Amino acid sequence: MARISVSRLAKMKTENEKITCITAYDASFAAIFDQAGIQVLLVGDSLGMVLQGHESTLPVTVEDIKYHTASVASTAKNSLIIADLPFMSYSTAEQTFENAATLMRAGANMVKLEGGEWLSESVQGLVERGIPVCGHLGLTPQSVNVFGGYKVQGREDEQAEKLLADALLLEKSGIQLLVLECVPVTLAERVSKALAIPVIGIGAGAQTDGQILVMHDAFGISAGFCPKFSKNFLVETGDIRRAVALYKEQVEGGIFPADEHSFY
Ligand code: KIV
Repeated sequence: MARISVSRLAKMKTENEKITCITAYDASFAAIFDQAGIQVLLVGDSLGMVLQGHESTLPVTVEDIKYHTASVASTAKNSLIIADLPFMSYSTAEQTFENAATLMRAGANMVKLEGGEWLSESVQGLVERGIPVCGHLGLTPQSVNVFGGYKVQGREDEQAEKLLADALLLEKSGIQLLVLECVPVTLAERVSKALAIPVIGIGAGAQTDGQILVMHDAFGISAGFCPKFSKNFLVETGDIRRAVALYKEQVEGGIFPADEHSFY
């Protein structure tokens, strides 16, 4: 089987096939997800919280993401691998290109960065240089200190319109995938319909083109808090491989996320 391409993901959107994504940080879990047919693996900077035990994603470095991307890429041969550009690693154009190249050389097929309008030129520059980009809007965890906590975004009309405008601008700039985190269902649906590229939700309801979860949340093993938008698939199945299959099945069948995992 050939590796999932961005054009395959775009085709899945046009054919109303849901895309299943999960975070991965090591070779063993990456192999399980890859063999289960999970289309996208994200080497997320969430590793700062679930692997390193920090309170936020801010301490994560490019070296950390590089290391975990290489681990994931060593076994994941079919899934598309996205690597997060961590906090303050894409604040200038030069820094963005350099760090994105490091992650692509480590085995990523795409990089992800958090933010709206201000990233337009960086996205364009990356794409022109051959680096596919995934956007990330809504609750962008690298901005937790600006938001004053991990809060649902886009509840106010003005905020929602700005988010939609940012999504359209990023699409025009060249992103080929968009992660939408913790926004009301109605806004997620509007964005998914307005964009031609696939929109992957987390805490954004069932109307997006696909879903992503942090793997530790999907297995109910995150230390302390488990977010409302997540579900423990391991408790229902008692086996990691069956839990992954159930997650994919429920995303494809429109069963997950249910109302209880969504914001209105
Ligand atoms: O870092 C991460 O795991 C993420 C997901 C929450 C989408 O960005």
